[in-house]
Amino acid sequence: MRTVEWREGKVCLIDQRVLPAEFRVLELETPEEVARAIREMAVRGAPAIGAAAAFGLALAARRSRAADRAGLWRDLEEAAAVLRAARPTAVNLAWALERVLGRCAAESDPDALRDRVLAEAQAIADEDVEVNRRLGEVGAAIVPDGATILHHCNTGALATVDYGTALGVIRTAHEQGKRVHVLVDETRPLLQGARLTAWELQQLGIPFTLIADNAAGHFLRTGQVDLVLVGADRVAANGDVANKIGTYKLAVVAKENGVPFYPCVPTSTIDLSTPTGDDIPIEERPAGEVTDLLFRGMPIAPAGVRVANPAFDVTPHRYVTGIITEKGIAYPPFGLSLQRIAG
Ligand code: MRU
Repeated sequence: MRTVEWREGKVCLIDQRVLPAEFRVLELETPEEVARAIREMAVRGAPAIGAAAAFGLALAARRSRAADRAGLWRDLEEAAAVLRAARPTAVNLAWALERVLGRCAAESDPDALRDRVLAEAQAIADEDVEVNRRLGEVGAAIVPDGATILHHCNTGALATVDYGTALGVIRTAHEQGKRVHVLVDETRPLLQGARLTAWELQQLGIPFTLIADNAAGHFLRTGQVDLVLVGADRVAANGDVANKIGTYKLAVVAKENGVPFYPCVPTSTIDLSTPTGDDIPIEERPAGEVTDLLFRGMPIAPAGVRVANPAFDVTPHRYVTGIITEKGIAYPPFGLSLQRIAG
């Protein structure tokens, strides 16, 4: 199944909190349940949460008791506010909600409006899959045969509706017969690399090695990495890139060692209304995500410690070799190239 899909009036999601131990599907019936699944990261990854939120609006449209268009629109705007507040950094969430509302605003008949909202959400989901496949083709062109690729977090089918962004590039290169090997960052604190990327690569039969996050610098310095491919949650107009915490460190060490660093994004992740990375809101997540782990059956930290848990960081554009999108690769100066691709 797709990571996010609409089935018989419900939003169905692969529950990413329990993978790889268990494959569980959630069936959600209200926009509040979808917002909660996004907040608690049952569904995660910028494109996946955008599609889930769009389907959340379709749930709101169905459940609304409003008989007239004005009442229905109020209910949709209320649901959109709840969904938008679920996570702040990935622009795809707000982008998807604005796209649904924007394209449905002219509809005056309430029943037609209900249908239109669902159709638009479904279009976002379907387009995401097509866009990822095109992005995979574009990106695979710069992957040399025999490449070792360092990858952070999870950018695969699970982070999107299907196929993936950076992992989609790796997947396309593999499907084209190129020999690739992936160094998979475990990605503390929620271990999206170890739990989700390793699970996906195993299923796809793509060779990989799981490494502790702390090991990435070693592999970069000793010439064991040909390129770094990551996803992104928001690309600012100047090419600064917000992505999973730890990405910045990789980009700096990659540049220091002459290794190309490419974020791979659908154009819906490029936010030309955000001038620089400093303007991107960084989500702070609960302390328990850092501390509530067991090591040999014991807590990993003393009780009551102070924790900081920013979920994303910003990589300044000077560390970015190019930004791979479904419409081509943007190269510096990003102010111009991103405007051309996403303007
Ligand atoms: O906190 P997460 O797991 O939602 O973070 C995901 C990432 O940082 C991904 O790299 C990003 O969303 C791009 S996924 C195609």
